[in-house]
Amino acid sequence: MKVEELLKPFPIKEFHPFPRAMMGPGAHELIGPEALKLGFTKTLVMTSGLRGTDIVDKIAGSMRYHGLEVVVYDKVESNPKDYNVMDAVAMYQENACDSFVSIGGGSSHDACKGARISVAHDGRSVNEFEGFNQSENPKNPPHIAVSTTAGTGSETSWAYVITDTTTDPGNPHKYVAFDDNCLATLAIDDPVLYFDCPVDYTAQCGFDVLAHASEPYVSRLDFPPSLGNALYAVKMTNDHLRQAVWNGQDLAGREGMMYAQYIAAQAFNSGGLGIIHSISHAVSAFYDTHHGLNNAIALPRVWAFNMPTQYHRFADLARAMGVDTHGMTDVQAADAALAAAIRLLRDVGIPERFVDVKQDTYSKNRLGQGPTTFYENAGVITGDDKDVDRITHHVLGDACTPGNAKECTFETVRPVVEHCMTGDLDDLLG
Ligand SMILES: [Fe+2]
Repeated sequence: MKVEELLKPFPIKEFHPFPRAMMGPGAHELIGPEALKLGFTKTLVMTSGLRGTDIVDKIAGSMRYHGLEVVVYDKVESNPKDYNVMDAVAMYQENACDSFVSIGGGSSHDACKGARISVAHDGRSVNEFEGFNQSENPKNPPHIAVSTTAGTGSETSWAYVITDTTTDPGNPHKYVAFDDNCLATLAIDDPVLYFDCPVDYTAQCGFDVLAHASEPYVSRLDFPPSLGNALYAVKMTNDHLRQAVWNGQDLAGREGMMYAQYIAAQAFNSGGLGIIHSISHAVSAFYDTHHGLNNAIALPRVWAFNMPTQYHRFADLARAMGVDTHGMTDVQAADAALAAAIRLLRDVGIPERFVDVKQDTYSKNRLGQGPTTFYENAGVITGDDKDVDRITHHVLGDACTPGNAKECTFETVRPVVEHCMTGDLDDLLG
């Protein structure tokens, strides 16, 4: 049965649990004792390297101080590729490790979750586990996920996202796997580790949070236990993102975003996502651009697309974003929510269309730099008709699409994608 057939009617809701977490300034210093408690002896650390910071050295050093052996795989790419996962699996097996630590944002955590699933299945390709609960063996190596960005939520979610590079180069495939067996054993969220996160990257990750929070609030799953977290995460993002972006050393801003990202992920974990994420995955698949950046560009367009399905929910989002809706109809308040989202996007300095994203636009840029044939000629986002068509097709096959509030067909989604590419955000404002 296909994903959409399974999910579209949503007759039965399913709650997916979260791992234990240690949270707050200084939490990362607990990693040694916590790893010992979990029975770690020899650990593979998976990370992008976090070059320019001493975070990996500090955490590995702290683990070694507590008597643990540590091996480091530091080549996880943004939008982690299947070969990143399988290289780490080989390193884990060659070194006879018994545990994992991931240090970074979603890419490191996701690659690590995929590696654990592969290890538990005799090193089978991670791509075999795309979809919903495709793994058979729940006995994965233990995993501590240490976050250095406020965006992903992967340290607490049952999702991981991988780019499959074995497909037709003309048709790259970035997929989400949802698997109850991939949960980290322990999450560590420490806002002090976010202090080195660059301005633009902080902003983009913040819009991943706003997407994680707002999509389950209006999704077809309509899962009541998610709604409180979703709404409060929107409020926290609106309250703290500007602070975190424009003063990276502001602990209140960083800690506010840490909790926003944590509860936003817990909202979507069982409440579902929508086509902000589907568009984001598709653009990453073709261009290797950053997930949060893609979400930020897609979010206003997708809010406008979904708004007619439930103005009252968008009116709630307006209030969560600090709009005084007294005297407004739900339609007016929903429009105000969209205006507030566009204001936030502009306040934190995010490019407004995909065609505005250039190779030197932002610090974590991989546009046109990917190592596979998917990306060799992808240094410029064209946004032409062919581009819009192929991205729309990718969106329709994404596991997040069935949860979207409004019915998604090629005809309904294509104009949304086209607007993301070349449209003017002011067109969305009444
Ligand atoms: Fe996301």
